Amino acid sequence: MRVLGIETSCDETGLAIYDTEAGLLAEALHSQVDLHAAYGGVVPELASRDHIRRLLPLIEKVLADAGMTRRDLDGIAYTAGPGLIGALMVGATFGRSLAFALGIPAIGVHHMEGHLLAPMLEPNPPAFPFIALLVSGGHTQLVDVTGIGRYRLLGESLDDAAGEAFDKTAKLLGLPYPGGPELARLAESGDPTRFRFPRPMTDRPGLDFSFSGLKTRVLTEVQKQGETMDAATRADIARGFEEAVVETLAIKCERALAECQRSRLVIAGGVSANKRLRAELEARLARMDAAVFYARPALCTDNGAMIAYAGACRLAAGEVAELGVSTRARWPLDTLPAIPAAS
Ligand code: KG4
Ligand code: ZN
Repeated sequence: MRVLGIETSCDETGLAIYDTEAGLLAEALHSQVDLHAAYGGVVPELASRDHIRRLLPLIEKVLADAGMTRRDLDGIAYTAGPGLIGALMVGATFGRSLAFALGIPAIGVHHMEGHLLAPMLEPNPPAFPFIALLVSGGHTQLVDVTGIGRYRLLGESLDDAAGEAFDKTAKLLGLPYPGGPELARLAESGDPTRFRFPRPMTDRPGLDFSFSGLKTRVLTEVQKQGETMDAATRADIARGFEEAVVETLAIKCERALAECQRSRLVIAGGVSANKRLRAELEARLARMDAAVFYARPALCTDNGAMIAYAGACRLAAGEVAELGVSTRARWPLDTLPAIPAAS
């Protein structure tokens, strides 16, 4: 079964074709970073309009790259939520209509399920069950995963998501949008011991997170340094912040693995591309006889391949979207149906 995946939930137009037998056949991505940079963040209306402009040429590109025509497609998967509603509507209406025109099934995919399953596209995919740490610009969640659609939420951020904390802190340090990867790059040359920021909520039981206080601590430090802050100090602050987020996430992952007696951890979403997070988890999990799984960086951030894969799994199990297009700005992950559906 060959499935076209369409991702338009935020500021990336992502397309891919996934074949349930041959794997990923083609992928293409257009990032809107340049479009939104002048505003310091994503402008939803501009995002929607740009998705409209990019979709058709990108679909033609992935079809050509895969050596296929539209008629060779067996299904279409589009992101149906959560995300920016206008942006979602573009990909969903387009995908649903194209599937109708071609007489093939369509499916609306949960964006975070797409992230969660992305490591399945790698050569050494994790077996169920596992703990998933979902860390993106909008979500920070720990989930106990026993199968596709079998998700038990263990904990989540009570305020800022991990990616959001990276982005806001990057702004405080004067880094350009999108801040997360820029901050990580600056942190590479920083001293990890000079600034010790708090590890929020690690001193009490539970698996929830809170990152907004950490960002405020960085703000206080930046203000204390004043206008004369040198480049090395900025890098040291960036490193101190990154260490705090990474250690906080790692402590909660260890706790979740122990509490649920799991030996596999999947990290997914944009922040899972962070090198320090990967290294810290590799080191800690090796000590507890557990393994960490993640996708290549391009499949950690938003992309069409994860949507094509998640959609293909659900289409193959017989799920199909109705003819009416429905999208959701908010959509709890643990309300998704399990597959194969219980009979
Ligand atoms: O999953 P994603 O591409 O989009 C959402 O679904 O939100 O995640 C984007 C987030 C942004 O906040 C971005 O700053 C962050 O992931 N991010 C990173 C890195 N790469 C992307 N944060 C820290 N280190 C990175 N290397
Ligand atoms: Zn995402």
